[in-house]
Amino acid sequence: GNDSLPLENIQGDILVGMKKQKEQFVFFHINNATTFKKVLKTYAPANITSIQTLLSAPSAQPLAFVNLAFSQSGATALGVTDDLGDSFFSAGQFADASALGDDTSNWDSTFTGTDVHGVFLIGSDETSFVEQYQSDLEAKLGDAWTVSLTIASAARPGDEAGHEHFGYLDGISNPTITGFGTALPGQSVVDPGIILAGRTGDTVSRPSWALDGSFLVFRKLKQLVPEFNKWTLANAIQNASGNLTAQEGADLLGSRMFGRWKSGAPIDLSPDVDDASLGTDPQRNNNFNYTHAGSDITSDESRCPFSAHIRKTNPRDLESVIGHANHAIRAGTPYGPELTDDESSSGTTSTDRGLAFVEYQSNIGNGFRTQQEVWANAAAFPFGKTESIGLDPVIGQGDRTTYGLNAQNVTESYSVPSFVISNGGEYFFSPSITALVETFAA
Ligand code: HEM
Repeated sequence: GNDSLPLENIQGDILVGMKKQKEQFVFFHINNATTFKKVLKTYAPANITSIQTLLSAPSAQPLAFVNLAFSQSGATALGVTDDLGDSFFSAGQFADASALGDDTSNWDSTFTGTDVHGVFLIGSDETSFVEQYQSDLEAKLGDAWTVSLTIASAARPGDEAGHEHFGYLDGISNPTITGFGTALPGQSVVDPGIILAGRTGDTVSRPSWALDGSFLVFRKLKQLVPEFNKWTLANAIQNASGNLTAQEGADLLGSRMFGRWKSGAPIDLSPDVDDASLGTDPQRNNNFNYTHAGSDITSDESRCPFSAHIRKTNPRDLESVIGHANHAIRAGTPYGPELTDDESSSGTTSTDRGLAFVEYQSNIGNGFRTQQEVWANAAAFPFGKTESIGLDPVIGQGDRTTYGLNAQNVTESYSVPSFVISNGGEYFFSPSITALVETFAA
């Protein structure tokens, strides 16, 4: 899989990520396909940010980065009728809601149906530049579109930058693709076609214009942060010496739910205490695979529960059995304000905050859907274990019974409240820049 990739033609968020402080998701409906196409034809080559632009010197970069993806209904509205070969994309995410375990009464009404035709992702370090780019789009598109929903996300302030709202460092583990950059220790290297349509490793036949596009799964995932904090404190666990304070026991429990400490340190490498220098060291923070000399991977949860979020969504000890087809690249950012004192003291969320979840893959069934439905929501995954596992305590949906969280008694069962509530989303396709111009704007 050593394809040579046209970096100037691939939308930058897919492989590199906008890596910006502010990111705005602008979901829209197309009212007038003719005008929309006419605008897109000149807008796309001038403004859609490629990988090459993201990797270029800051002085050569625009004030804001822009990426664009279409849903099936959006492609259809523009007269793009070729079958992209992904049934989940074709049907849209709303049709998939109950299979994913979502309660559609929690869905934002924008997403309950197939009315969302596409999304612009606008990223910048300055809110004013994001706003300026959005106003520019509004001026250019006029009545040809309607903005149905805007989600403004942003890196959290100060030391929390890079951490999601529960407090855990995010964006550490993503696969890299063959022939693009150098893999960090422990990082998975996958064929380009696992992420990019039409490349080596993509096993589905696609229209030729789909080459170098990627399916973008968007989910608005609301996070109940004070509720999470309250629950972990109320269920604080102990270490072998029994000398943890309640807060330390809550932090240990949280780390076992995620598989990492808040700093990012993997509990597989540092099971008892957080280790901030390990958490932020890219040479070490991915270099683990749950296997240790003298320990039995079918039963040993002393370091990391089988149910931990990162072990459910990437069971590294089973990689030789499962292979690489289920990897996807995550590029989400947090939305919503910091906790207020009131929320902290009451233990109750009163303001909407969460994760604007974005994941790229060439095949939604293999990537996001396998991670969410076949793995996180399944009580018996990872397979081949002798202990009860239960659901992913962070994102699992269904009967949220989980085991393995208490290292002193891994058979203890937990009924974990839902701290992540899906507000819905959509399945999109993020085409190459030439496909935007020659197929979508044609
Ligand atoms: C890793 C949080 C939703 C898939 C992580 C990490 C955190 C995290 C803190 C560790 C950092 C890292 O390894 O990069 C969250 C939160 C979520 C959420 C707070 C919801 C609000 C999801 C969903 C999926 C997912 C919906 C897919 C269905 C993954 C994967 C990894 C990961 C694949 C990397 C695992 C590895 O390679 O070790 N997540 N996540 N996450 N998450 Fe999530």
